[in-house]
Amino acid sequence: MTTHSPHPAHAVEPASAEELALMSDEEAMILGAEADGVHIVHRRDRFPIRGTRAEKRAERTIALIFLIGFLAAVGFIVVFCGALPFEWHLPGQGSQDFRYFTPALGFLLGLSLACVGVGIVLWAKWLLPEEEAVQDRHDEPESEAEVLMTAASLVTGFNDMGVARRSMLKSTVGLAVGALAALPLVALVGAMIKKPNKGQGQSLFHTLWTAGTPVVYSDGRRVSTDDLLPGGIETVFPGVPGGIKAGDSPTLLIRLRPGQVVKARKGQDTYQWGDYIAFSKICTHAGCPASLYEQQTGRLLCPCHQSQFDVLLDAKPIFGPATRSLPKLPLGVEVQDGKQYFVAKGDFPEAIGPAFWERP
Ligand code: FES
Repeated sequence: MTTHSPHPAHAVEPASAEELALMSDEEAMILGAEADGVHIVHRRDRFPIRGTRAEKRAERTIALIFLIGFLAAVGFIVVFCGALPFEWHLPGQGSQDFRYFTPALGFLLGLSLACVGVGIVLWAKWLLPEEEAVQDRHDEPESEAEVLMTAASLVTGFNDMGVARRSMLKSTVGLAVGALAALPLVALVGAMIKKPNKGQGQSLFHTLWTAGTPVVYSDGRRVSTDDLLPGGIETVFPGVPGGIKAGDSPTLLIRLRPGQVVKARKGQDTYQWGDYIAFSKICTHAGCPASLYEQQTGRLLCPCHQSQFDVLLDAKPIFGPATRSLPKLPLGVEVQDGKQYFVAKGDFPEAIGPAFWERP
């Protein structure tokens, strides 16, 4: 323990470089501490007799913790490189095991870090000498002898760790710290090699909307052409199993006010049905639900970072960080019991959500 006293106590004169060369590192360290106003009041080796069973047991325990840290880091690399599937699939259209990918990475990285941290703390608590010191405060610049004594202190501290003679600890801490240090590289290089959504039907580019999919409310009721008043807005979903729960399916159905005309994107002028138009609700900036609609101006606001989309410009971003228009759903109707109900005429023509997915 080191404390600072407001009044420097008597400090010993620093030894010359020649005298220091004749001392052991520990003697030079103690002298250096005294010269620096640090009084070591108690210093005791935890295992004065080397190689006892207790010392070996402590060493083995710490080595085991480092080994677990190493294995967890290797496990992270194995999982990242494909031991668990990471590609998202629509509900019912493939393995849902991708749900374990991110938690497994988090658990293994956390375990590896924890093991290295706990191992180092236990090494200090169980194997380093006990020491209690009191330090006086001083402001003078260091002399050359003091620099040498400080270096000796560092060498003694390193020797105290017993790295040279504890080969088991040296190897296991090297393994654990080395594997842990490699993880950022694995994630960085791997992220450049692994392309999400490559193959397997490119499921991230498709939602549950297909031609003929009924448009329903969150309670499963079908949406008819009489439901919304002019200027009204509703969140609707694809009426298929899992459609209401699927994170990429929420869609905004908007009924334009009289006189409001939408300037459609090229090739999408048939997507609107009458004065109804539908856009993905997932903001193209970072994926928040954009649903604050001002019917007089036709502006749609995303509450997360204040992006604004102009519905009359086909949901083009006109303010804020979003750079891509909200994808538009092609709308149609079918007649049932003499009433017109909305259906989709197909999926969104482009990926919904953040613009990252537009990258080739
Ligand atoms: S998520 Fe919509 S503005 Fe950022």
